[in-house]
Amino acid sequence: MRSEKSLFRRKSIAAILQNPPADAEGHSPGGLARHLTVRDLTALGIAAIIGAGIFSTIGKASLDGGPAVSLLFVFTAVACAFSALCYAQFAATIPVSGSAYTYAYASFGELAAWIIGWALIMEYAVGNIVVAISWSDYFTGLLDGVGLHIPTYLSTGTQSAYQGYHAVMALMQAHQPLSQATAAQLEGYKIWTSAPALFGNFHLVADLPAFTITVLITALVYVGIKESKTASNILVLLKLIIVAVVIAVGAFYVQPANWHPFAPNGVGGVLKGVSAVFFAYIGFDAISTTAEECKNPQRDLPKAMMYALIICTVLYVIITLILTGMVSYKELGVGDPLSFVFARIGMPRLSGLVAVSAVFAMASVLLVFQLGQPRIWLTMARDGLLPQVFASIHPRFHTPSFATIVTGFFVAVPALILNMDLVVDLTSIGTLFAFALVCGGILIIDPYGQSEARFKVPYLNGQWLVPLVLALGAFLILRYNGAGNAEFWQDVSGQRGWLAKDAVTGTIVGGFAHQIPTMVFLLFCVALAVLSFRKRLSTLPVLGLLINLYLMTQLGISNWTLFFVWLLIGLAVYFGYGYKNSKLSRTLQAA
Ligand code: ALA
Repeated sequence: MRSEKSLFRRKSIAAILQNPPADAEGHSPGGLARHLTVRDLTALGIAAIIGAGIFSTIGKASLDGGPAVSLLFVFTAVACAFSALCYAQFAATIPVSGSAYTYAYASFGELAAWIIGWALIMEYAVGNIVVAISWSDYFTGLLDGVGLHIPTYLSTGTQSAYQGYHAVMALMQAHQPLSQATAAQLEGYKIWTSAPALFGNFHLVADLPAFTITVLITALVYVGIKESKTASNILVLLKLIIVAVVIAVGAFYVQPANWHPFAPNGVGGVLKGVSAVFFAYIGFDAISTTAEECKNPQRDLPKAMMYALIICTVLYVIITLILTGMVSYKELGVGDPLSFVFARIGMPRLSGLVAVSAVFAMASVLLVFQLGQPRIWLTMARDGLLPQVFASIHPRFHTPSFATIVTGFFVAVPALILNMDLVVDLTSIGTLFAFALVCGGILIIDPYGQSEARFKVPYLNGQWLVPLVLALGAFLILRYNGAGNAEFWQDVSGQRGWLAKDAVTGTIVGGFAHQIPTMVFLLFCVALAVLSFRKRLSTLPVLGLLINLYLMTQLGISNWTLFFVWLLIGLAVYFGYGYKNSKLSRTLQAA
């Protein structure tokens, strides 16, 4: 039952589209300026997609999975493509700036919309923390290359140094050899102890370049969409040229012997890279937040999303094959793999050029995400779920000024402090969740592909197809992933029990709890197979939903725990503010 009190109160699509009229200068309803064409949007998509993922986190993924990580890129691209189709249908149906948040409001109702809006903070703002930290790594490396040295305590996150210091101190106090510590922990210890101590115990360790780039990009986004568009188009062109150069030159240095063995650590090793690989694709959806700034959103947004995704998938798969073909995967566990491989084969100049391009590439990702987050908050504030000040538009620049500044703080300050691994995982889990809900949303508003939208997900009857694909997936996982035998219960640590922790680092490495997400997922698969069979649901959104959930199950119980904590905080904010101030609730009450 739907009532004004209900948490599931839904906004009708007609109501969402009913905005204030455009002004005399042609600014879109709501006051944003309409400048973006399909080319700009594709460029914005590529600007958001190609960044820290391919320039940095791919290294660790290749080390774990070997050349077969290229297949993980293909698999993840398929998951993203299903989600992109659903995003595209929503964007064509509801071309306003709230992205998945708005789509959920129309399909699942207010509570789910709030949850998704809250999860999107993980994608945009938390994702940008990752990018800012990576940017800082490449930038300080570049400066070092030209003889300008920033002290490490001013270019390292407080958390990494502090954790390293404590891990090493714990080893010393336990009279254990320091060789048990990881290189990162030893480095953290060194940085912490060499940093100037302020007020007694407080050591001055902070990532200043990460902070500074975020402030600069925020200033650009504050000034206007037109300026951001031009900057982003230039950066994308530069990025594509460099990627093409890496591919064209690297291809001559591939030694096919490096592709054997193709999956040295099996499927498990490849799947360890899920978070990093998925992170590399995040961003194609970000362009849907600019719907109110597009000239023709219904036609251009779906096209641009697909173009950006296809271009990036092709580039990613080729780059992975080239990287793992140029050197042994065992050497790729570095933070700057693309420039590393060229240094490794004796081409330092090209290596430097790639590093410079990485700095630009990541700046453009920062730009798009700094653009996206305030626009989601703007939409939420218009709905009354956030204070009105988040919806304020700058009178001269026509940008959401207050929300842009808050985003700047939200990214810049944690970027000074936080450690990268944690934020990569959180970004991936939050984004996968949002993608899953968008696919689920299409199943709710248009389960049989009958929408009148100018773009819709092609309908394939799922009655037999979904159960068949699931049976095939189950067979492949059982055959190649070792599930079903003791490993399933023991997990990577080889230990049984509820939770197994690493003795030195204290991180959770295995145990029964790790499998809870997988078990819930399996039940969900059975339920959806039955539903698809009985209701002939549209196959592609069902598969999109399931693939996103499957990738989430691979992220480990500690990330799930943090994710739930984040959602609980979000629920507290909703019930403390949004539930009471929701405009939809007032409209329904008045009616
Ligand atoms: N896909 C974006 C990147 O890799 C988030 O930086």
